[in-house]
Amino acid sequence: MRIAMIGTGYVGLVSGACFSDFGHVVTCIDSDAAKIRQLRSGSLPIFEPGLDALVANNVEAGRLSFTTEFAAPIHAADAIFLAVGTPSRRGDGFADLSYVYDAARGIAPEIKGYTVVAIKSTVPVGTNDEVDAIIRKLRPDADFAVVSNPEFLREGAAIEDFKRPDRIVIGTDDERARRVMRELYRPLFINETPILFTGRRAAELIKYASNAFLATKITFINEMADLCEKCGADVQEVARGMGLDRRIAGKFLHAGPGFGGSCFPKDIAALAAIGQHYGVPTKIVATVMAVNDARKRAMPAKVVAACGGSLHGKTIAVLGLTFKPNTDDMREAPSLVIVPALEAQGARVRAYDPHGMEEARKLMPRLETAADPYACVEGADAMLILTEWDQFRALDLDRVKTALRSPVIIDLRNIYRPAEVAAKGFTYVGVGIADANYPRP
Ligand SMILES: NC(=O)c1ccc[n+]([C@@H]2O[C@H](COP(=O)([O-])OP(=O)(O)OC[C@H]3O[C@@H](n4cnc5c(N)ncnc54)[C@H](O)[C@@H]3O)[C@@H](O)[C@H]2O)c1
Repeated sequence: MRIAMIGTGYVGLVSGACFSDFGHVVTCIDSDAAKIRQLRSGSLPIFEPGLDALVANNVEAGRLSFTTEFAAPIHAADAIFLAVGTPSRRGDGFADLSYVYDAARGIAPEIKGYTVVAIKSTVPVGTNDEVDAIIRKLRPDADFAVVSNPEFLREGAAIEDFKRPDRIVIGTDDERARRVMRELYRPLFINETPILFTGRRAAELIKYASNAFLATKITFINEMADLCEKCGADVQEVARGMGLDRRIAGKFLHAGPGFGGSCFPKDIAALAAIGQHYGVPTKIVATVMAVNDARKRAMPAKVVAACGGSLHGKTIAVLGLTFKPNTDDMREAPSLVIVPALEAQGARVRAYDPHGMEEARKLMPRLETAADPYACVEGADAMLILTEWDQFRALDLDRVKTALRSPVIIDLRNIYRPAEVAAKGFTYVGVGIADANYPRP
């Protein structure tokens, strides 16, 4: 089948490349001419593991191409996917739908023959109806169906998630559209991926409700971590004990510095705004948002305490800047709150991140960076782990200890075992791990 993918960001590029790998012919369209030029020249505008080879193979096979032009690929498309951004609108937290509506206005004049318009962007309830109305108004003659097809992939594991999802959600009442969508995702039948057909509004809400639920899980375990620190329990033991209950499940129960990223913060803000719009207060969602914001702001105090009560004249080596490992995405990363707060308290911050430094420097222009983790910790007063990249899990701690001015590790991702690190002579501060001196009965 022929697909036009509008928006070639984290979701559009991965989805387009994966659909082409299934054998479909995909044209990725983006209004950002520089991005398209870069893709055409064979390099990727984002870092996502495995994506470079997937894109190169499918371009080579003639199934994947890139353009800024709407006309030809839309004329030919059996399905058009909208994967443009839906960032938070300034002021009220509602999703900014201008990119979605612009894209709808862009495709409408070019639709030819029966075409499915599938909205992959995360959009508030009723947006599919609005897109339907926009296209219908511009093209009363067009034969099309607007289908909600929210995307659940995670950055860092996006290809695996796209090719082996837990479920595919397709919101439509149109039987022809169902057939087209089934055919597009047919290769996933081999893995017996459940395809859930729902109403459009339910599909729209499933995406927000899922993200809000996962964000709630993270926030819940973060609160338990605070409690653990005070009452002498280990949050990792608590999380494991909870997670073995299949009704709870172990994922998203890792305590840390608060969630960030391009999705959770904006999606829970949008869900709260949707609730308000319908006069249904979403108190849990609003609380999760507030607790998570406060958590990021509370983290620098841990660093101050570990450094003896003051950061004046101290150098903090920060390992990890992106909101999670295996991505270059810095959107809403906890580092964007924590690093400036450390600097404001008099610290000099030097950072290293395998893929996030270029973007981080744009957002924090004064940020000093290092070429590798060991150069980062050289002469520093403490090592602060903010993102759990694999390469930080197995550092040569003897080398780290020699390089540091004082042997202090603040590990906001709990990637080291406190006892092992303490045995090497470090002062170790994790998250949700009681002080070693806590009086045990
Ligand atoms: N990033 C994720 O992990 C993820 C996961 C699931 C769902 N989503 C959702 O998917 C959507 C896209 O997210 P993203 O992270 O890929 O965004 P992104 O910002 O990385 O990419 C969006 C792209 O759309 C392009 N664009 C905007 N308006 C356009 C137009 N009118 N015509 C053509 N191109 C246009 C932009 O230039 C940009 O390249 C959002 O709604 C997001 O919430 C994201």
